[in-house]
Amino acid sequence: MKKDFMQTAVITSNVRIAKATYEMKFDCDATTITAPGQFINIDVPGYFLRRPISVCDAKDRELTIIYKVVGQGTLAMSQMSEGTELNFLTGLGNGFDPERAKGSALLVGGGCGVAPLFMLARKLVARNKPVQVVLGFNTKDEVFLEQEFLDLNDAYEFGCEGFEGEKPEVKVAVTTADGSYGIKGFVTDAIAQIYGTKDDRKVGSHDTEGNHLDAKVPYYYACGPLPMLKALRKSVGTFGELSLEERMGCGFGACVGCSVKTTKGFKKVCADGPVFPADEVLEEI
Ligand SMILES: Cc1cc2nc3c(=O)[nH]c(=O)nc-3n(C[C@H](O)[C@H](O)[C@H](O)COP(=O)(O)OP(=O)(O)OC[C@H]3O[C@@H](n4cnc5c(N)ncnc54)[C@H](O)[C@@H]3O)c2cc1C
Ligand code: FES
Repeated sequence: MKKDFMQTAVITSNVRIAKATYEMKFDCDATTITAPGQFINIDVPGYFLRRPISVCDAKDRELTIIYKVVGQGTLAMSQMSEGTELNFLTGLGNGFDPERAKGSALLVGGGCGVAPLFMLARKLVARNKPVQVVLGFNTKDEVFLEQEFLDLNDAYEFGCEGFEGEKPEVKVAVTTADGSYGIKGFVTDAIAQIYGTKDDRKVGSHDTEGNHLDAKVPYYYACGPLPMLKALRKSVGTFGELSLEERMGCGFGACVGCSVKTTKGFKKVCADGPVFPADEVLEEI
């Protein structure tokens, strides 16, 4: 077992940031998170199974998650106060690979799937890569992190390491299904507005080395509900990475509770994923 795989962390804040959505920060060894898109598996006292939640950001001794209250476990989390200790397994999963975007990158998040894209955006900006973020929500009350992504444009002041030359630009488009904020519709509608419709561009065109050819949509990273991931892949092709969600038992590869069929056979979402190359994920997911 890896050092610091299990941690007892102290909650330093737990605030509501949107409808039924909370941001929780911990004081702990956040260096256990080595890639954006990794997750922690939280032991919520009184509940048998741990709750897997993606890491929104991790720096030194501060780890941030954003979670939506959907059932008893997340409801209990929303009622926890500052100073409470929580035990979790950390550094789980593979995470997104910021090196795969050769130039600019497209980040697409739906609902709670927006959270892990924040640390990814920070890592891409630190590598001087321009980022187009597209965030999808049902309605205005659910929107979160828009301003935080925009603030990455001033990332140098925020202590982002590794800047050389010009600052890359971070652009953000928000969609709501009911049209109460941003672009009315789904993330695919925003992508069509930004890059043109599917017919206007060569979808997902790339060579075997992963170099982007002449497609207009850059390498993409996506996390969100399955219908969103499916629609996205149909719209922009497979030149990207998808983060999948599955019900989990152990969360670290020991129970086979989270297997999904891929083009490379059965894979465990917790250990082999949750991030998979879009072309490895089968149509029927
Ligand atoms: C890799 C991964 C990353 C995730 N990241 C986030 C995140 O950043 N923010 C967020 O709000 N949610 C995230 N989820 C979903 C989150 O795990 C569930 O919403 C949460 O476990 C629900 O717990 P509950 O007790 O409130 O709900 P209940 O429905 O009462 O939970 C019952 C059981 O089902 C499991 N479960 C319920 N919904 C899900 C789900 N969608 N995925 C996996 N297990 C589920 C619970 O863990 C629990 O074991 C993630 C899930 C996975 C697999
Ligand atoms: S949850 Fe146990 S193997 Fe993935």
